[in-house]
Amino acid sequence: MAIKNIQTAHLVHDLKNPINIIESGARSLIDKPDRYGALNAKQEKVIKRMLRNAVRLRHLTNSMLEVDMAALGIVNHTECIPLNFIRDSLIEVFDLVDPTVSDALEDEIDIEKFKSILKAHDVHLEAESASLMTKVTTDETKLSLIITNLLSNAFKYKTKSVFLKLGVDQDSVSVSVRDDGPGIPDNYHQQIFDQYFQCDKVEGFPVRGHGLGLAGAQALADALGGTLSLCRGAKGAEFVVTVKTIKAA
Ligand SMILES: Nc1ncnc2c1ncn2[C@@H]1O[C@H](COP(=O)(O)OP(=O)(O)OP(=O)(O)O)[C@@H](O)[C@H]1O
Ligand SMILES: [Mg+2]
Repeated sequence: MAIKNIQTAHLVHDLKNPINIIESGARSLIDKPDRYGALNAKQEKVIKRMLRNAVRLRHLTNSMLEVDMAALGIVNHTECIPLNFIRDSLIEVFDLVDPTVSDALEDEIDIEKFKSILKAHDVHLEAESASLMTKVTTDETKLSLIITNLLSNAFKYKTKSVFLKLGVDQDSVSVSVRDDGPGIPDNYHQQIFDQYFQCDKVEGFPVRGHGLGLAGAQALADALGGTLSLCRGAKGAEFVVTVKTIKAA
């Protein structure tokens, strides 16, 4: 999975500055009408679309570099709370399907209201408030990327609902992502973690993407001293990622 040569890694790295400039320029046009003049509704719509795509590009380049670092065993532990990395993942996935939900999630500080926003969009978050707010030490960027990949698959394949479950204990955090879609046949349970592998097309569920998400997520989980597994016998598909953490004193 590692980027094969240093030029390519640098190229990806050097994309970050122009992307940041596009993103912050678009954000300024939207957020600072006093300075740059008010946008009319049509202009605002176009700039918001540009901003969303600049954010996507930023996430893509970060994700390439994070997976590459993971393959080299480089992790960056920081203190964080699960609410934040789960929120980041949900925002990224909703950005592609309904950015108004992302906006609502971004601003919501009340956990019950946060869950209600999700529930109204058929995402069921099963997590105690105390667990969501527990300080843990992990590489939250990498963990969030894993969850984003699982969620993005769940959104692609769900019939109606997605179920997210958080577990926090002394030295690990686990997140389960389940959907109510067609599931994954038993004979593919190993192969789906291979690069470029995609299951046979299921009627009504177009095959999209490149078959890279789970391979990258697996490399990230490995780097975090964790596991990523597909649960057997689940209705729909259920993946669980568990990573080691250091609990803050
Ligand atoms: N929740 C799911 N339900 C049903 N099939 C799934 C699910 N998640 C993954 N798969 C199967 O596993 C394959 C590999 O998933 P993976 O995330 O690696 O790639 P992708 O989603 O096809 O593309 P990419 O993630 O690169 O955009 C998918 O193509 C799909 O066939
Ligand atoms: Mg995927």
